[in-house]
Amino acid sequence: MIEVGNVTAVVGVEITIRANEDSNLETHFYDGEAFKGVSIREFVSISHGFREIICLVEGEYLDERLTEGDGPSSHYVRKLKARPVGFFEDGIFQDGIKFLPKIGDPVFLLPQNRVESVFEKRSGNGFSIGRLLKEDLEISLPWQGLFNTHIGIFGNTGSGKSNTLAKLYTSPFDRKLEGISQSSRFIFLDFNGEYVGNQLATSEYKAVTRLKTKGEANEFFYLRPSEFWDAETLGILFQATQNTQKPFLRRIVSGRNRFAGVADSLSRYIETTFVRVLRSKDPSLEALEQLKHLARNLDDEGALVSNLDKVGLRRGSDIDSFHFIDAGGTWHFLSGDAQEDFVQETFFDLVEEIDITELNGFDELQVRASVQIIRDVLSGSVQYEHIHPLLRRIDALKEDLSKVISVGEEAGLPEQPVTVISLRETRQEVKKILPILIAKHYYEAHKESVSSPPETTAHLIIDEAHNILSTQSSREAESWKDYRLELFEEIIKEGRKFGFFVTLASQRPSDISPTIVSQVHNYFIHRLVNDRDLALLDNAISTLDSVSRSQIPTLPKGACVVTGTTFDIPMLLQVEKLVGEKEPDSRDVDLAKLWN
Ligand SMILES: Nc1ncnc2c1ncn2[C@@H]1O[C@H](COP(=O)(O)OP(=O)(O)OP(=O)(O)O)[C@@H](O)[C@H]1O
Ligand SMILES: [Mg+2]
Repeated sequence: MIEVGNVTAVVGVEITIRANEDSNLETHFYDGEAFKGVSIREFVSISHGFREIICLVEGEYLDERLTEGDGPSSHYVRKLKARPVGFFEDGIFQDGIKFLPKIGDPVFLLPQNRVESVFEKRSGNGFSIGRLLKEDLEISLPWQGLFNTHIGIFGNTGSGKSNTLAKLYTSPFDRKLEGISQSSRFIFLDFNGEYVGNQLATSEYKAVTRLKTKGEANEFFYLRPSEFWDAETLGILFQATQNTQKPFLRRIVSGRNRFAGVADSLSRYIETTFVRVLRSKDPSLEALEQLKHLARNLDDEGALVSNLDKVGLRRGSDIDSFHFIDAGGTWHFLSGDAQEDFVQETFFDLVEEIDITELNGFDELQVRASVQIIRDVLSGSVQYEHIHPLLRRIDALKEDLSKVISVGEEAGLPEQPVTVISLRETRQEVKKILPILIAKHYYEAHKESVSSPPETTAHLIIDEAHNILSTQSSREAESWKDYRLELFEEIIKEGRKFGFFVTLASQRPSDISPTIVSQVHNYFIHRLVNDRDLALLDNAISTLDSVSRSQIPTLPKGACVVTGTTFDIPMLLQVEKLVGEKEPDSRDVDLAKLWN
């Protein structure tokens, strides 16, 4: 053992060490073994009785000392500030400050093999994703304690998050996929199509769904009808407000369920709706408008539409009432029997001819929503202007959503252990909505299937999580935003009990809801320079120490601070770069090659 100094002060948990004269060598040799010299972020061992207290050096400075000899002269002594991080007992490292050294205790260098055991409690499991940045030691991570937690990977763009994320999962997949495929499912939400190739796992174990809103769609995210026809799901899809639009959706769903067993209940419902509106003694302009809209959706420029265009609401003798325009362009007021006959002649057959057997889920929703609002308006039970925006959103989003979601097929948890859902070719709007639905789908499917204690696990991995978890974007309806965050907060808070774990990677942790960031168990923090992000780390991550924290703004590419409940002490890790086809599809542009 090489002694490097003595303890001279213990104030709180801050320990001052007076270093020996020769202690500032870069490397020391003893018994043929190399020891690294003492400097900042190195470990030293303080012998305290039969225990060894391990301290991390946090600073060094020079102190002046007067010596008396021939005349008073002063010289400098090197002093170190250190903080205890744990202790060795019976050769095993325990973290935490349970013992403190006392003045006079000798301080020793820590041999390399002991440094390793400081970092890995259960050594030799062979799950390694990189090397310690400073010590350059390969380090194994305790995977048994890591993959059953929520993981956060943060860092500025280009700092190596995607590489770390992929490396983290590639390593166990490479070695244990047989076992994993029996018990665990991994769902990767891939906003940029970085994992659709041969990354993560071979195609035998991996299902890739490429969702597209541009061009012809051929891959879908499948929802069971019971899942689609659910006010919560529809509320997510169309961003319904909590107080008025959600109940409206609920009425649609319950109406559909009530008559689910009756054949052509919907077409009969449509027929009676037409009759009700057109025969009404107290005509409503809004109902008529929606009726025209419905006709256009069902009959698209057919006879029904053109006949309906002949109907208008005009001021009669004293009240607004339906008028009908004739071929010559003159409006006629009709009432009583004349009105009955006109409706009979002009609409009955046409309405009966409507064919709704071919409607997909979204078409059916659109039709049901129109009918529902007409009914609600006629009965005077809703404010048209509160519901109308929802119908407009259904119209606007229907096409995009029906390209990425298919209703009807059986869909449970996936066959393959690894599922990658690429949203690269979807529109921004869909990128925001769909991930929530996907998360809800898998969370609920897993919750349903799992026993207690869980014997299977599901892992939801979201790269670029700020896309969906930001608290910042004020564009969407407030209450919808809440639901989105609420769902993820629930997953983060409750998921562990059911064996459902989330891994988030993001450039802007400060944009993500603080509840979510602070409930993550383990963090891989790459370079971050923004003050707000750094401040968030201070508040959210209790296991981050000040030395590691101070290095975050200057970390090199691929290096990260690893900290959290699974790790005894924070460590600085240089993550190994994945190469070839395992590398996420996110490489930097090589201008030297491009511009030559
Ligand atoms: N450990 C590493 N060692 C060396 N280079 C790396 C390492 N990790 C990533 N890189 C390189 O850095 C670049 C960016 O990496 P990556 O895509 O993982 O960053 P990112 O943090 O996910 O960025 P973004 O936020 O833009 O998605 C790539 O060219 C990658 O090859
Ligand atoms: Mg990335």
